[in-house]
Amino acid sequence: MDYKVEIAKLIKIDGVSFDEILSLVVAAKDSALADFAFPCFKFAKTLRKSPVIVAKEIVSSIEKPAFIESIEAVNGYVNFKLSKLNFVKQTVDKTLALGESYGASTEGAGKTICIDYSSINIAKPFHMGHLSTTVIGAALYRIYKKLGYSVVGINHLGDWGTQFGKLIVAYKMWGDKEDINNRGINALLEIYVKFHKEAESTPELNDIARNWFKKIEDGDSEAMELFLWFKEVTLRDVQKIYDRLDVHFDSYNGESFYNDKMQPVIDELEAKGLTKISNGATIVEFDQSEDMPPCLIKKADGATLYATRDMAAAFYRKNTYNFYKSLYVVAYQQNLHFKQLFKVIEMMGYDWAKDMIHVPFGMVSIEGGKLSTRDGNVVFLEDVLNTARDKALEIINEKNPDLENKQDVAEMVGTGAVVFGALVGSRIKDISFSYDKVLNFEGETGPYVQYTYARCCSLLNKIESSGSINYDNLTSAESYELIKLIDKYPDIVADAGAKYEPSIVTRYIYNLAVQFNKFYLEQNISNSNEQDKCARLAVVKIVQNIIKDGMSLLGIKCPTKM
Ligand code: ARG
Repeated sequence: MDYKVEIAKLIKIDGVSFDEILSLVVAAKDSALADFAFPCFKFAKTLRKSPVIVAKEIVSSIEKPAFIESIEAVNGYVNFKLSKLNFVKQTVDKTLALGESYGASTEGAGKTICIDYSSINIAKPFHMGHLSTTVIGAALYRIYKKLGYSVVGINHLGDWGTQFGKLIVAYKMWGDKEDINNRGINALLEIYVKFHKEAESTPELNDIARNWFKKIEDGDSEAMELFLWFKEVTLRDVQKIYDRLDVHFDSYNGESFYNDKMQPVIDELEAKGLTKISNGATIVEFDQSEDMPPCLIKKADGATLYATRDMAAAFYRKNTYNFYKSLYVVAYQQNLHFKQLFKVIEMMGYDWAKDMIHVPFGMVSIEGGKLSTRDGNVVFLEDVLNTARDKALEIINEKNPDLENKQDVAEMVGTGAVVFGALVGSRIKDISFSYDKVLNFEGETGPYVQYTYARCCSLLNKIESSGSINYDNLTSAESYELIKLIDKYPDIVADAGAKYEPSIVTRYIYNLAVQFNKFYLEQNISNSNEQDKCARLAVVKIVQNIIKDGMSLLGIKCPTKM
């Protein structure tokens, strides 16, 4: 039952449409006073009556239906209190029946959303800087699936650029095929870093590297073979991390994929008179009001750029997937790049430019440390996951040394803690990451929620009940608050999708766990009569389902025991 709609149906004001009334019904701020409220201030002028009078007249015109407990006029508002019993029964019955599909919707039917996320760079390490894009993008992917959209996950690989020439030179000088095959990205990174050190004293190396990159561009067979091998080695390595994070892609079309797809776009830009030559380079200038530097399309030597590839990719995605929306989950450092990209496509006359959305996020640092690639001083995501897992194992050994499958549980808790930590704050905020913080079993953390889930599992395992549900038992303050939260889950999932903000789900799941634990402390589940027990266990079952489903949207697994 959609209470807002049902309440709006009760309110009739001359000359005011149902839709307008519906838009004004709000969830009340103080749930002790009311569940929903309808402000009457807007109508005072047209009706020539004070809001207080309008509210009173509305109250006396309504015949109270069974789902409402009371209707009152208070200071120009009409306050509605739901019948607790009715609400509890409706919510519990509905959510129990839906099981793990609770929260799903069909809002996305027939619509496709493309999400560009993770988008790692070949032959560079998968470092902490890629954590947010990977987990935010993957969470949005699962959220949109749940909302009924077709979703295309795209890893727009950074597999083009002069660094591949450098890597070939480095490999030819110091590379060891077997070592690279065995140690993967780490071995590649070592020779890449060595190249940069060496090139400081022997700058000619840069020219040789440029030459090799030219050979890749020209499709020289030796150069291509090495280039493809670097790519393969990198992807094999990162796959291990994607598996641990349960992250998937439908396409790995990266920058190099667009090599032969840029010219038609450049031709079109020129034909539409949007380009200019500046010092030999091809650029697109923007209107002064845009307050943006020009977008570089082609360098003076004819080389294309990151932006040119993204332009070709935008057209490719529109033509291939006919997207309803195309998201780019990329750090806010690239705000300008995406503003320029979207604007150029708009200037070309495509109204779907408005459907491309940059979903930016803040920086991640580890306890004050900085992240960069060049000097080899990076924090590898794999190391972070391993450390979190090992620390989780220490905690488990302390708290529950006899637990079965300790290694598996430690992996779920460790990885879950890192992912939850990356998804709990608004995405635009910078994150300063600390192991102690994310692994704290009492905080706003993954382990806290997982622990609550395990508690639900153990209650359902230990206590049996054969009675029928006594809904009256669920109207106490703690139960009612919990059931109100349960009722919100579908709105939460939809809201997270609409705002591109997985943290809405993360924080909700945390709050649900907190409220559940209050309920658990208040209610003595095992020592109650059959019908009360049955009612309480129903709530446990529902919370268990929602935690499992919500955490799986975030990409976090929950152990049944911990
Ligand atoms: N590889 C880029 C980086 O690591 C991110 C690419 C984002 N996607 C895009 N279509 N530009 O910074």
